[in-house]
Amino acid sequence: MCGIVGYKGHQQVSSVIVNGLRRLEYRGYDSAGVAIIENGHYVIKKCAGLVEDLEKLVNHSQLKGTVGIGHTRWATHGAPTNENAHPHLDYTGKIVLVHNGIIENYQTLKKKLAKNGVEFVSQTDTEVLACFIGSIYEKVQNFELAVRLALSEVEGTFGIAVLCLDEPDMMIAVRRGSPLVLGLGNNEFIIASDASAIVQHTRQVIYLNDNEMAVIDGDTYVTKTIYDQETDSEIQEVEFELEKIEKGGFDHFMLKEIYEQPETFHNAIRGRLLSAEGNVKLGGLGPVRDKIRAAKRIIITACGTSWHSALVGEYLIEQLAHIPVEVEYASEFRYRNPIIYPDDVLIGISQSGETADTLAALREAKQKGATILGIVNVVGSTIARETDAGVFIHAGPEIGVASTKAFTSQVGVLAMLAIYIGRMIHLSQREAKVIAQELEKIPQKIQQILDNADKIKEIALQYKDAQNFLYLGRGLNFPVALEGALKLKEISYIHAEGYPAAEMKHGPIALIDENLPVVFIATKDDIYDKIISNIEEVRARKGKVIAIATEGDTQILTLADHVIYIPETDSMLTPILAAIPLQLLSYYISVALDRNVDKPRNLAKSVTVE
Ligand code: F6R
Repeated sequence: MCGIVGYKGHQQVSSVIVNGLRRLEYRGYDSAGVAIIENGHYVIKKCAGLVEDLEKLVNHSQLKGTVGIGHTRWATHGAPTNENAHPHLDYTGKIVLVHNGIIENYQTLKKKLAKNGVEFVSQTDTEVLACFIGSIYEKVQNFELAVRLALSEVEGTFGIAVLCLDEPDMMIAVRRGSPLVLGLGNNEFIIASDASAIVQHTRQVIYLNDNEMAVIDGDTYVTKTIYDQETDSEIQEVEFELEKIEKGGFDHFMLKEIYEQPETFHNAIRGRLLSAEGNVKLGGLGPVRDKIRAAKRIIITACGTSWHSALVGEYLIEQLAHIPVEVEYASEFRYRNPIIYPDDVLIGISQSGETADTLAALREAKQKGATILGIVNVVGSTIARETDAGVFIHAGPEIGVASTKAFTSQVGVLAMLAIYIGRMIHLSQREAKVIAQELEKIPQKIQQILDNADKIKEIALQYKDAQNFLYLGRGLNFPVALEGALKLKEISYIHAEGYPAAEMKHGPIALIDENLPVVFIATKDDIYDKIISNIEEVRARKGKVIAIATEGDTQILTLADHVIYIPETDSMLTPILAAIPLQLLSYYISVALDRNVDKPRNLAKSVTVE
């Protein structure tokens, strides 16, 4: 959570930082701030609210300076107030800091500092860190040394950018657990939580590793560990098209990303499907092919929407490759001393590649000897770098906080992975061919659903005032029900539950009355008749039925209040198509309720804290 930008160069720093923060606002948006060095003094502007509120403050103050740091916050310690907004100044007035992460031993450090008379103006762990560095700086009078000594005593996670008034030409950025990228421009340096805030200035970047720092001094920089060993960091060229992070004529990023899915799905499968041979090519898995073939089981771990795609993956891999699959919430898995065998393969799925729990689960499995793989969107992210091998989903930047295109691409990659593993073991060429050929048709089928968005909008307007929604599906469509409910609740704030349809009668059926919309994923498959019975049960209790059904199914018209058709496909690939109308339904409901679709309350795009 939280976005950090630091700049040292020849441009007016305030606008560079505000522009960078705008790009990072998906990471947190409850308060924002900048600190710049102006004529030998700090000028700090910060406020609760959005980056646009900060921009007004900054423009009003006409800040002038070429070195500064900025922050957009997702609160962990302390409410989103002006005082708790970053940057934080230490009690000496010399050290100023922005931070992404959590300082776990901040209470201990705070007590120690308070004993020596330090007073705090905020409730944050970050102010404690600034003061802790300041207290060491008072003694050693060496900025870099003070940062290193302080961080060697700090527990927890951090990505920080820090300045010292006595060294106005120096900026230090350090990472442990929270991502930081150093951009190397033409006589300018820019530090940011991810490359989207950097590409406007340069494409030459260094991804900092854990416990690594970048010390920028004048026109030069050095990277080293916090234990003072120089590191040989590789300069990488980021491939990033700027227009991919603009709205491109859509009202919201979420809508743009929903509409991008024919293209993003195509990008996920492009060059990988060998339909004629009934196989797939996943180059990134080459080095671990034998380990995958030998695996007795596969564990998939993830959070949120990525966890839902993992559930679909479980069905696909078990069905096509006949290997047992377990799906685990990363946050639960990591804390229960999981039993892991050296021949286990553990797959982490993550759009951002930075989710703290998923990363920690992968590290736990790696330490216990398993082979760890990543299905990740963001190239250069921590999970992408730390896994033994993996497959990128190539969905392009996902800015809307609600994940959409990442879900469909993740499922596409999981389907290919299931074919890949299946073909090494027992899946016939004929069966593989059928699925591969169907995967090729998915982009055009997604487009067909998008072309009928108006119908979904009408339904959305009819149900926007409902207090609760129930989403039901069976088999592969159960994770889709979970995903549909998650999409609705996170952006509309309407309570929604996803449930396996048959489980309804063991409890949730009590909720059903004439005010409850029930969304059924009722596509044609071998358990279609069972879901029809579940629809009857809801109708008998006067619930309103919205059915996602397969084109050509006329029976459903007599049972449901509303039918949204999706094109026919192999039942194993239905989740990809069924997710699209549910994304649109929640989008249109949220817009009708005037919610902040791209930045829903209390949320942030990537959860880099536990
Ligand atoms: C929901 C959503 C979240 C993320 C979750 C995992 O729309 O976006 O539930 O799916 O935070 O994030 P990643 O995939 O980046 O690990």
